[in-house]
Amino acid sequence: MTLNDFDLVLFGGSGDLAMRKLLPAMYARDRAKDLPASARIICVGRHDCTTEAFLASVNTTSKPHIADTALDAAVWQRFCQRIHYVALDATDPASYTALATAMRDDPALTRVYYLATPPTLFATICLNLAACQLATPNSRVVLEKPLGRDLKSARQIIADVGSVFAESQIFRIDHYLGKEAVQNLLALRFGNVLFEPLWRREWISDVQITIAEELGVGNRTGYYDTSGALRDMLQNHLLQLLCIVAMEPPTMITPDAVRDEKLKVLRSLKKFTPATLSQNVVRGQYRAGHVNGVAVPGYRKEPGANPESRTETFVAVRAEIDTWRWAGVPFYLRTGKRMADQLAEIVVRFKSIPHSIFAQSTGSFLPNSLVIRLQPDEGLHLNLMAKTPGDSMRLKPVDLEMDFHETFKSPRMDAYERLLLDVLRGQLTLFMRSDELEAAWEWVEPILDHWDQEESDPFPYTAGTWGPAAASALIGRDGLQWREETLPEM
Ligand code: BG6
Repeated sequence: MTLNDFDLVLFGGSGDLAMRKLLPAMYARDRAKDLPASARIICVGRHDCTTEAFLASVNTTSKPHIADTALDAAVWQRFCQRIHYVALDATDPASYTALATAMRDDPALTRVYYLATPPTLFATICLNLAACQLATPNSRVVLEKPLGRDLKSARQIIADVGSVFAESQIFRIDHYLGKEAVQNLLALRFGNVLFEPLWRREWISDVQITIAEELGVGNRTGYYDTSGALRDMLQNHLLQLLCIVAMEPPTMITPDAVRDEKLKVLRSLKKFTPATLSQNVVRGQYRAGHVNGVAVPGYRKEPGANPESRTETFVAVRAEIDTWRWAGVPFYLRTGKRMADQLAEIVVRFKSIPHSIFAQSTGSFLPNSLVIRLQPDEGLHLNLMAKTPGDSMRLKPVDLEMDFHETFKSPRMDAYERLLLDVLRGQLTLFMRSDELEAAWEWVEPILDHWDQEESDPFPYTAGTWGPAAASALIGRDGLQWREETLPEM
Protein backbone atom coordinates (compact mmCIF):
# COMPACT_ATOMS: atom_id res chain seq x y z
CA MET A 1 0.00 0.00 0.00
CA THR A 2 1.51 3.37 -0.98
CA LEU A 3 1.80 5.70 1.95
CA ASN A 4 0.40 9.16 1.92
CA ASP A 5 3.08 11.84 2.26
CA PHE A 6 3.78 12.63 5.92
CA ASP A 7 5.59 14.66 8.54
CA LEU A 8 6.57 12.35 11.41
CA VAL A 9 7.46 14.28 14.57
CA LEU A 10 9.44 12.35 17.16
CA PHE A 11 9.21 13.87 20.63
CA GLY A 12 12.13 12.38 22.56
CA GLY A 13 13.86 12.41 19.19
CA SER A 14 17.36 12.23 20.63
CA GLY A 15 16.41 9.61 23.22
CA ASP A 16 17.26 5.94 23.48
CA LEU A 17 14.12 4.59 21.79
CA ALA A 18 14.39 6.94 18.83
CA MET A 19 18.05 6.11 18.28
CA ARG A 20 17.84 2.36 18.87
CA LYS A 21 14.49 1.53 17.33
CA LEU A 22 12.48 4.29 15.64
CA LEU A 23 15.06 5.79 13.31
CA PRO A 24 16.45 2.36 12.27
CA ALA A 25 12.87 1.21 11.63
CA MET A 26 12.16 4.22 9.42
CA TYR A 27 15.46 3.67 7.60
CA ALA A 28 14.43 0.07 6.90
CA ARG A 29 11.13 1.20 5.39
CA ASP A 30 12.97 3.82 3.35
CA ARG A 31 15.27 1.09 2.03
CA ALA A 32 12.18 -1.00 1.20
CA LYS A 33 10.94 1.99 -0.84
CA ASP A 34 7.84 2.43 1.32
CA LEU A 35 8.36 6.12 2.09
CA PRO A 36 7.12 8.88 -0.21
CA ALA A 37 9.99 10.92 -1.65
CA SER A 38 9.18 14.06 0.30
CA ALA A 39 8.21 12.43 3.64
CA ARG A 40 10.02 14.02 6.59
CA ILE A 41 11.09 13.07 10.09
CA ILE A 42 11.28 15.92 12.56
CA CYS A 43 13.16 14.98 15.70
CA VAL A 44 12.32 17.09 18.70
CA GLY A 45 14.60 17.32 21.72
CA ARG A 46 15.31 19.57 24.66
CA HIS A 47 18.88 20.51 23.87
CA ASP A 48 19.81 23.22 21.46
CA CYS A 49 21.59 21.93 18.40
CA THR A 50 21.54 22.24 14.64
CA THR A 51 20.16 19.58 12.32
CA GLU A 52 23.73 19.04 11.11
CA ALA A 53 25.03 18.34 14.63
CA PHE A 54 22.01 16.14 15.33
CA LEU A 55 22.70 14.11 12.20
CA ALA A 56 26.25 13.59 13.38
CA SER A 57 24.87 12.00 16.55
CA VAL A 58 22.40 9.92 14.51
CA ASN A 59 25.41 8.62 12.61
CA THR A 60 27.24 7.58 15.76
CA THR A 61 24.28 6.52 17.94
CA SER A 62 21.55 5.24 15.65
CA LYS A 63 23.35 3.90 12.59
CA PRO A 64 25.17 1.15 14.57
CA HIS A 65 21.71 -0.36 15.28
CA ILE A 66 21.27 -1.13 11.60
CA ALA A 67 22.75 -4.43 10.45
CA ASP A 68 25.77 -4.00 8.18
CA THR A 69 24.06 -6.09 5.52
CA ALA A 70 21.12 -3.66 5.50
CA LEU A 71 23.24 -0.53 5.17
CA ASP A 72 23.23 1.11 1.80
CA ALA A 73 25.20 4.36 1.62
CA ALA A 74 22.89 5.97 -0.95
CA VAL A 75 19.73 5.09 1.00
CA TRP A 76 21.33 6.28 4.24
CA GLN A 77 22.14 9.61 2.63
CA ARG A 78 18.58 9.95 1.31
CA PHE A 79 17.22 8.97 4.72
CA CYS A 80 19.34 11.58 6.52
CA GLN A 81 18.00 14.27 4.21
CA ARG A 82 14.53 13.57 5.58
CA ILE A 83 15.63 14.30 9.15
CA HIS A 84 15.27 17.75 10.73
CA TYR A 85 15.96 18.68 14.30
CA VAL A 86 13.90 21.11 16.37
CA ALA A 87 14.87 22.17 19.90
CA LEU A 88 11.78 22.57 22.03
CA ASP A 89 10.79 22.78 25.67
CA ALA A 90 7.72 20.54 25.69
CA THR A 91 6.25 22.41 28.67
CA ASP A 92 6.49 25.85 27.06
CA PRO A 93 3.75 26.60 24.48
CA ALA A 94 5.83 29.45 23.04
CA SER A 95 8.54 27.07 21.90
CA TYR A 96 6.10 25.12 19.68
CA THR A 97 6.28 27.88 17.07
CA ALA A 98 9.67 26.46 16.03
CA LEU A 99 7.95 23.14 15.42
CA ALA A 100 5.11 24.78 13.51
CA THR A 101 7.68 26.45 11.26
CA ALA A 102 9.46 23.17 10.59
CA MET A 103 6.22 21.39 9.62
CA ARG A 104 4.44 21.65 6.32
CA ASP A 105 1.06 23.30 6.50
CA ASP A 106 -0.84 21.04 4.12
CA PRO A 107 -4.09 19.32 5.17
CA ALA A 108 -3.49 16.61 2.57
CA LEU A 109 -0.41 15.41 4.47
CA THR A 110 -0.50 12.94 7.33
CA ARG A 111 0.96 14.33 10.54
CA VAL A 112 2.17 11.91 13.17
CA TYR A 113 3.31 12.99 16.63
CA TYR A 114 5.19 10.13 18.26
CA LEU A 115 5.59 10.76 21.99
CA ALA A 116 8.64 8.75 23.04
CA THR A 117 8.74 10.71 26.29
CA PRO A 118 7.86 9.98 29.91
CA PRO A 119 4.07 9.65 30.26
CA THR A 120 3.99 12.68 32.55
CA LEU A 121 4.53 14.79 29.42
CA PHE A 122 1.80 13.23 27.25
CA ALA A 123 -0.98 15.57 28.34
CA THR A 124 1.23 18.67 28.30
CA ILE A 125 2.45 17.97 24.77
CA CYS A 126 -1.04 17.26 23.40
CA LEU A 127 -2.53 20.35 25.05
CA ASN A 128 0.33 22.49 23.72
CA LEU A 129 -0.07 21.04 20.23
CA ALA A 130 -3.74 21.99 20.40
CA ALA A 131 -2.96 25.48 21.72
CA CYS A 132 -0.62 26.05 18.76
CA GLN A 133 -3.17 24.73 16.22
CA LEU A 134 -0.93 21.78 15.46
CA ALA A 135 -3.48 19.12 16.44
CA THR A 136 -5.20 19.14 13.08
CA PRO A 137 -7.75 16.61 11.73
CA ASN A 138 -4.99 15.01 9.62
CA SER A 139 -2.91 14.38 12.79
CA ARG A 140 -2.27 11.15 14.68
CA VAL A 141 -0.59 10.75 18.01
CA VAL A 142 1.43 7.72 19.13
CA LEU A 143 1.82 7.10 22.86
CA GLU A 144 4.65 4.90 24.08
CA LYS A 145 4.22 2.75 27.13
CA PRO A 146 4.06 3.01 30.10
CA LEU A 147 0.78 4.87 29.84
CA GLY A 148 0.66 6.15 33.38
CA ARG A 149 1.84 4.44 36.53
CA ASP A 150 -1.53 3.37 37.91
CA LEU A 151 -5.21 3.46 37.05
CA LYS A 152 -5.69 7.04 38.18
CA SER A 153 -2.80 8.49 36.17
CA ALA A 154 -3.75 6.37 33.14
CA ARG A 155 -7.32 7.70 33.29
CA GLN A 156 -5.99 11.24 33.50
CA ILE A 157 -3.83 10.70 30.40
CA ILE A 158 -6.76 9.15 28.57
CA ALA A 159 -8.93 12.16 29.42
CA ASP A 160 -6.30 14.80 28.61
CA VAL A 161 -5.16 13.28 25.33
CA GLY A 162 -8.81 12.53 24.50
CA SER A 163 -9.67 16.22 24.94
CA VAL A 164 -7.35 16.99 22.01
CA PHE A 165 -7.48 13.92 19.75
CA ALA A 166 -10.32 11.57 18.81
CA GLU A 167 -9.87 7.89 19.74
CA SER A 168 -9.35 7.09 16.03
CA GLN A 169 -6.31 9.42 16.04
CA ILE A 170 -4.66 7.84 19.10
CA PHE A 171 -2.21 4.95 18.66
CA ARG A 172 -1.22 3.42 22.01
CA ILE A 173 1.72 1.28 21.10
CA ASP A 174 2.73 -2.06 22.57
CA HIS A 175 5.59 -3.25 20.42
CA TYR A 176 4.93 -6.90 21.32
CA LEU A 177 1.83 -6.74 19.12
CA GLY A 178 4.09 -5.84 16.19
CA LYS A 179 6.10 -9.04 16.50
CA GLU A 180 5.54 -11.47 13.63
CA ALA A 181 5.02 -14.45 15.91
CA VAL A 182 2.19 -12.70 17.75
CA GLN A 183 0.35 -12.02 14.53
CA ASN A 184 1.10 -15.57 13.48
CA LEU A 185 -0.69 -16.73 16.59
CA LEU A 186 -3.80 -15.04 15.19
CA ALA A 187 -3.20 -16.88 11.91
CA LEU A 188 -2.68 -20.16 13.73
CA ARG A 189 -5.80 -19.85 15.84
CA PHE A 190 -8.18 -18.41 13.28
CA GLY A 191 -6.72 -19.57 9.97
CA ASN A 192 -6.78 -23.28 10.81
CA VAL A 193 -9.53 -25.59 11.89
CA LEU A 194 -7.17 -27.77 13.88
CA PHE A 195 -6.63 -25.89 17.09
CA GLU A 196 -9.81 -23.98 17.78
CA PRO A 197 -11.92 -26.99 18.90
CA LEU A 198 -9.18 -27.90 21.39
CA TRP A 199 -8.54 -24.32 22.52
CA ARG A 200 -10.52 -24.51 25.75
CA ARG A 201 -10.63 -25.79 29.28
CA GLU A 202 -11.69 -29.32 28.25
CA TRP A 203 -8.37 -29.90 26.44
CA ILE A 204 -5.88 -27.34 27.69
CA SER A 205 -4.34 -27.88 31.10
CA ASP A 206 -2.37 -24.64 31.45
CA VAL A 207 -0.72 -21.83 29.55
CA GLN A 208 2.67 -20.31 30.32
CA ILE A 209 3.82 -16.98 28.91
CA THR A 210 7.43 -16.05 29.53
CA ILE A 211 9.46 -13.02 28.54
CA ALA A 212 12.94 -13.58 29.92
CA GLU A 213 15.79 -11.17 29.35
CA GLU A 214 19.49 -11.68 29.92
CA LEU A 215 19.98 -7.92 29.97
CA GLY A 216 19.94 -5.99 33.21
CA VAL A 217 18.59 -2.47 33.56
CA GLY A 218 21.78 -0.93 32.20
CA ASN A 219 21.63 2.85 32.22
CA ARG A 220 17.82 2.92 32.66
CA THR A 221 17.73 2.74 36.47
CA GLY A 222 16.23 6.25 36.64
CA TYR A 223 13.13 5.09 34.77
CA TYR A 224 13.15 1.47 35.88
CA ASP A 225 13.36 2.09 39.60
CA THR A 226 10.04 3.93 39.52
CA SER A 227 8.50 1.33 37.26
CA GLY A 228 9.60 -2.26 37.90
CA ALA A 229 8.77 -5.41 35.97
CA LEU A 230 5.05 -5.26 36.66
CA ARG A 231 4.54 -1.84 35.09
CA ASP A 232 7.29 -2.23 32.50
CA MET A 233 6.32 -5.64 31.11
CA LEU A 234 3.36 -7.35 32.74
CA GLN A 235 0.70 -4.64 32.62
CA ASN A 236 1.24 -4.31 28.89
CA HIS A 237 3.29 -6.88 26.93
CA LEU A 238 2.36 -9.98 28.94
CA LEU A 239 -1.31 -9.05 29.23
CA GLN A 240 -1.52 -8.31 25.52
CA LEU A 241 -0.06 -11.74 24.73
CA LEU A 242 -2.52 -13.31 27.13
CA CYS A 243 -5.36 -11.55 25.31
CA ILE A 244 -4.28 -12.90 21.93
CA VAL A 245 -4.08 -16.44 23.34
CA ALA A 246 -7.36 -16.32 25.22
CA MET A 247 -9.72 -14.13 23.22
CA GLU A 248 -12.79 -15.44 21.44
CA PRO A 249 -12.65 -15.40 17.64
CA PRO A 250 -13.33 -11.82 16.50
CA THR A 251 -15.92 -11.53 13.76
CA MET A 252 -13.38 -9.79 11.52
CA ILE A 253 -9.79 -8.65 11.76
CA THR A 254 -10.85 -5.03 12.13
CA PRO A 255 -9.65 -2.76 14.95
CA ASP A 256 -12.79 -2.74 17.06
CA ALA A 257 -13.72 -6.38 16.48
CA VAL A 258 -10.26 -7.49 17.73
CA ARG A 259 -10.09 -4.97 20.54
CA ASP A 260 -13.59 -5.81 21.78
CA GLU A 261 -12.50 -9.43 22.24
CA LYS A 262 -9.25 -8.49 23.97
CA LEU A 263 -11.18 -6.22 26.30
CA LYS A 264 -13.49 -9.08 27.31
CA VAL A 265 -10.47 -11.14 28.34
CA LEU A 266 -9.03 -8.33 30.43
CA ARG A 267 -12.37 -7.77 32.12
CA SER A 268 -12.74 -11.49 32.84
CA LEU A 269 -9.41 -11.83 34.62
CA LYS A 270 -10.08 -12.97 38.17
CA LYS A 271 -9.35 -10.05 40.50
CA PHE A 272 -6.82 -10.59 43.27
CA THR A 273 -7.70 -9.91 46.87
CA PRO A 274 -5.13 -9.41 49.64
CA ALA A 275 -5.78 -13.04 50.61
CA THR A 276 -5.20 -14.52 47.13
CA LEU A 277 -2.30 -12.26 46.20
CA SER A 278 0.45 -13.88 48.21
CA GLN A 279 -0.44 -17.29 46.76
CA ASN A 280 -0.53 -16.09 43.16
CA VAL A 281 2.06 -13.37 42.71
CA VAL A 282 5.84 -13.53 43.21
CA ARG A 283 8.22 -10.63 42.84
CA GLY A 284 11.98 -10.90 42.72
CA GLN A 285 15.08 -8.76 42.36
CA TYR A 286 18.40 -9.90 40.90
CA ARG A 287 21.57 -10.14 42.87
CA ALA A 288 25.10 -10.41 41.46
CA GLY A 289 25.73 -13.47 39.33
CA HIS A 290 26.92 -14.62 35.92
CA VAL A 291 25.14 -14.24 32.62
CA ASN A 292 26.71 -16.20 29.77
CA GLY A 293 29.82 -16.63 31.91
CA VAL A 294 30.23 -12.91 32.53
CA ALA A 295 30.04 -11.57 36.09
CA VAL A 296 27.30 -8.95 36.48
CA PRO A 297 26.34 -6.78 39.46
CA GLY A 298 23.12 -7.06 41.41
CA TYR A 299 20.28 -4.63 40.71
CA ARG A 300 21.04 -2.49 43.75
CA LYS A 301 24.63 -2.07 42.56
CA GLU A 302 23.75 -0.99 39.02
CA PRO A 303 25.02 2.52 38.14
CA GLY A 304 22.70 5.10 39.65
CA ALA A 305 20.58 2.53 41.50
CA ASN A 306 19.13 3.03 44.95
CA PRO A 307 21.11 0.65 47.22
CA GLU A 308 17.94 -0.11 49.18
CA SER A 309 15.59 -0.35 46.21
CA ARG A 310 12.61 -2.66 46.51
CA THR A 311 11.78 -2.46 42.83
CA GLU A 312 11.03 -5.85 41.32
CA THR A 313 13.07 -6.98 38.32
CA PHE A 314 11.10 -10.22 38.11
CA VAL A 315 7.43 -11.00 38.44
CA ALA A 316 5.48 -14.23 38.11
CA VAL A 317 1.70 -14.40 38.31
CA ARG A 318 -0.82 -17.22 38.28
CA ALA A 319 -3.86 -15.74 36.57
CA GLU A 320 -7.30 -17.15 35.86
CA ILE A 321 -9.93 -16.10 33.36
CA ASP A 322 -13.51 -16.41 34.54
CA THR A 323 -15.24 -17.47 31.35
CA TRP A 324 -16.86 -20.68 30.13
CA ARG A 325 -13.91 -21.31 27.84
CA TRP A 326 -11.18 -20.86 30.44
CA ALA A 327 -12.66 -21.45 33.91
CA GLY A 328 -10.08 -23.24 36.06
CA VAL A 329 -7.22 -23.09 33.52
CA PRO A 330 -4.19 -21.41 35.08
CA PHE A 331 -2.28 -18.87 32.98
CA TYR A 332 1.23 -18.43 34.35
CA LEU A 333 2.85 -15.15 33.33
CA ARG A 334 6.48 -14.46 34.04
CA THR A 335 9.09 -11.88 33.11
CA GLY A 336 12.45 -10.88 34.46
CA LYS A 337 15.75 -9.22 33.78
CA ARG A 338 19.12 -10.97 34.13
CA MET A 339 17.62 -14.38 33.61
CA ALA A 340 19.20 -17.58 32.34
CA ASP A 341 18.19 -17.04 28.72
CA GLN A 342 16.92 -14.39 26.35
CA LEU A 343 13.59 -15.70 25.17
CA ALA A 344 9.92 -14.96 24.79
CA GLU A 345 7.50 -17.81 24.35
CA ILE A 346 3.96 -18.98 24.89
CA VAL A 347 3.51 -22.60 25.94
CA VAL A 348 0.06 -24.14 25.61
CA ARG A 349 -0.05 -27.48 27.39
CA PHE A 350 -2.80 -29.92 26.59
CA LYS A 351 -4.30 -32.46 28.95
CA SER A 352 -2.92 -35.97 29.30
CA ILE A 353 -4.47 -38.86 27.41
CA PRO A 354 -7.23 -40.38 29.51
CA HIS A 355 -5.99 -43.98 29.22
CA SER A 356 -2.99 -45.75 27.71
CA ILE A 357 -3.48 -48.71 25.39
CA PHE A 358 0.29 -49.23 25.29
CA ALA A 359 2.53 -51.06 27.71
CA GLN A 360 3.73 -47.70 29.00
CA SER A 361 1.69 -46.26 31.80
CA THR A 362 -0.39 -43.17 31.05
CA GLY A 363 1.81 -41.23 33.44
CA SER A 364 4.89 -41.69 31.23
CA PHE A 365 3.20 -39.93 28.34
CA LEU A 366 4.27 -36.34 28.02
CA PRO A 367 1.12 -34.30 27.39
CA ASN A 368 1.12 -32.55 23.99
CA SER A 369 2.27 -29.00 24.00
CA LEU A 370 2.39 -26.19 21.52
CA VAL A 371 5.19 -23.66 21.92
CA ILE A 372 4.92 -20.35 20.11
CA ARG A 373 8.38 -18.82 20.07
CA LEU A 374 8.47 -15.03 19.75
CA GLN A 375 12.21 -14.66 20.15
CA PRO A 376 15.02 -15.23 19.53
CA ASP A 377 14.04 -17.65 16.73
CA GLU A 378 10.39 -17.10 15.77
CA GLY A 379 8.57 -20.34 15.22
CA LEU A 380 6.26 -23.08 16.38
CA HIS A 381 7.00 -26.38 18.09
CA LEU A 382 4.28 -28.96 18.46
CA ASN A 383 5.25 -31.71 20.85
CA LEU A 384 3.66 -35.08 20.08
CA MET A 385 4.15 -38.68 21.15
CA ALA A 386 5.54 -40.97 18.42
CA LYS A 387 6.67 -44.57 18.20
CA THR A 388 10.41 -45.12 18.42
CA PRO A 389 11.80 -47.33 15.61
CA GLY A 390 12.17 -50.99 16.53
CA ASP A 391 10.23 -54.11 17.26
CA SER A 392 8.50 -52.90 20.37
CA MET A 393 5.77 -50.33 20.81
CA ARG A 394 7.69 -47.71 22.80
CA LEU A 395 6.53 -44.12 22.53
CA LYS A 396 8.62 -41.04 22.91
CA PRO A 397 7.98 -37.27 22.67
CA VAL A 398 9.03 -35.66 19.37
CA ASP A 399 8.91 -32.09 18.14
CA LEU A 400 7.28 -30.88 14.92
CA GLU A 401 9.04 -27.63 14.29
CA MET A 402 8.43 -24.66 12.06
CA ASP A 403 10.93 -21.83 11.89
CA PHE A 404 9.20 -18.79 10.35
CA HIS A 405 12.32 -17.45 8.70
CA GLU A 406 13.32 -20.81 7.24
CA THR A 407 9.79 -21.37 6.00
CA PHE A 408 9.13 -17.98 4.48
CA LYS A 409 12.70 -17.00 3.64
CA SER A 410 11.58 -13.40 3.86
CA PRO A 411 13.54 -10.60 5.50
CA ARG A 412 12.69 -10.02 9.12
CA MET A 413 10.56 -6.97 9.85
CA ASP A 414 11.14 -5.44 13.26
CA ALA A 415 8.05 -4.84 15.40
CA TYR A 416 8.55 -1.07 15.27
CA GLU A 417 8.75 -1.12 11.47
CA ARG A 418 5.43 -2.88 11.25
CA LEU A 419 3.76 -0.64 13.82
CA LEU A 420 5.12 2.61 12.38
CA LEU A 421 3.78 1.54 8.99
CA ASP A 422 0.40 0.86 10.58
CA VAL A 423 0.37 4.33 12.16
CA LEU A 424 1.22 5.92 8.82
CA ARG A 425 -1.54 3.87 7.15
CA GLY A 426 -4.00 4.73 9.94
CA GLN A 427 -4.49 1.06 10.81
CA LEU A 428 -5.44 0.68 14.51
CA THR A 429 -5.87 -3.09 14.96
CA LEU A 430 -2.52 -3.64 16.69
CA PHE A 431 -2.87 -0.69 19.08
CA MET A 432 -4.58 -0.57 22.45
CA ARG A 433 -7.90 1.15 22.91
CA SER A 434 -8.42 3.30 26.02
CA ASP A 435 -10.83 0.83 27.65
CA GLU A 436 -8.28 -2.00 27.26
CA LEU A 437 -5.68 0.13 28.94
CA GLU A 438 -8.00 0.91 31.84
CA ALA A 439 -8.99 -2.74 32.25
CA ALA A 440 -5.32 -3.79 32.35
CA TRP A 441 -4.53 -1.20 35.03
CA GLU A 442 -7.62 -2.17 37.00
CA TRP A 443 -6.40 -5.75 37.16
CA VAL A 444 -2.82 -4.97 38.23
CA GLU A 445 -3.73 -2.22 40.68
CA PRO A 446 -4.38 -4.53 43.69
CA ILE A 447 -0.91 -6.00 43.19
CA LEU A 448 0.68 -2.56 43.20
CA ASP A 449 -1.29 -1.55 46.28
CA HIS A 450 -0.32 -4.72 48.09
CA TRP A 451 3.38 -4.24 47.34
CA ASP A 452 3.18 -0.61 48.46
CA GLN A 453 1.99 -1.75 51.86
CA GLU A 454 4.22 -4.79 52.15
CA GLU A 455 7.18 -4.49 54.47
CA SER A 456 9.28 -7.23 52.91
CA ASP A 457 11.76 -7.04 50.02
CA PRO A 458 11.27 -8.87 46.72
CA PHE A 459 12.72 -12.39 46.72
CA PRO A 460 16.38 -12.25 45.70
CA TYR A 461 17.55 -14.34 42.75
CA THR A 462 21.00 -14.81 41.33
CA ALA A 463 21.56 -13.13 37.96
CA GLY A 464 21.71 -15.76 35.23
CA THR A 465 19.04 -18.01 36.77
CA TRP A 466 15.33 -18.48 36.13
CA GLY A 467 14.25 -16.27 39.02
CA PRO A 468 13.49 -16.91 42.67
CA ALA A 469 12.63 -20.36 43.99
CA ALA A 470 9.24 -18.95 44.98
CA ALA A 471 8.35 -18.79 41.26
CA SER A 472 8.89 -22.55 40.93
CA ALA A 473 6.84 -23.05 44.08
CA LEU A 474 4.01 -20.93 42.60
CA ILE A 475 3.55 -23.30 39.66
CA GLY A 476 4.65 -26.34 41.69
CA ARG A 477 1.61 -25.98 43.95
CA ASP A 478 -0.50 -27.02 40.94
CA GLY A 479 1.77 -30.03 40.37
CA LEU A 480 3.32 -28.30 37.33
CA GLN A 481 6.69 -26.93 36.30
CA TRP A 482 7.95 -24.11 34.12
CA ARG A 483 8.86 -25.41 30.68
CA GLU A 484 12.62 -25.23 31.14
CA GLU A 485 12.28 -27.35 34.27
CA THR A 486 10.70 -30.13 32.21
CA LEU A 487 13.35 -30.18 29.46
CA PRO A 488 16.18 -32.72 29.59
CA GLU A 489 19.57 -31.30 30.71
CA MET A 490 21.73 -30.42 27.65
C1 BG6 B 1 10.33 -2.64 26.72
C2 BG6 B 1 10.74 -2.55 28.16
O1 BG6 B 1 8.97 -2.28 26.57
O2 BG6 B 1 10.50 -3.97 26.26
C3 BG6 B 1 12.19 -3.01 28.33
O3 BG6 B 1 10.61 -1.21 28.61
C4 BG6 B 1 12.38 -4.38 27.74
O4 BG6 B 1 12.55 -3.03 29.72
C5 BG6 B 1 11.84 -4.43 26.31
O5 BG6 B 1 13.76 -4.66 27.75
C6 BG6 B 1 11.87 -5.84 25.77
O6 BG6 B 1 11.51 -5.83 24.42
P1 BG6 B 1 12.06 -6.92 23.42
O7 BG6 B 1 11.34 -6.66 22.15
O8 BG6 B 1 13.54 -6.67 23.33
O9 BG6 B 1 11.76 -8.25 24.04
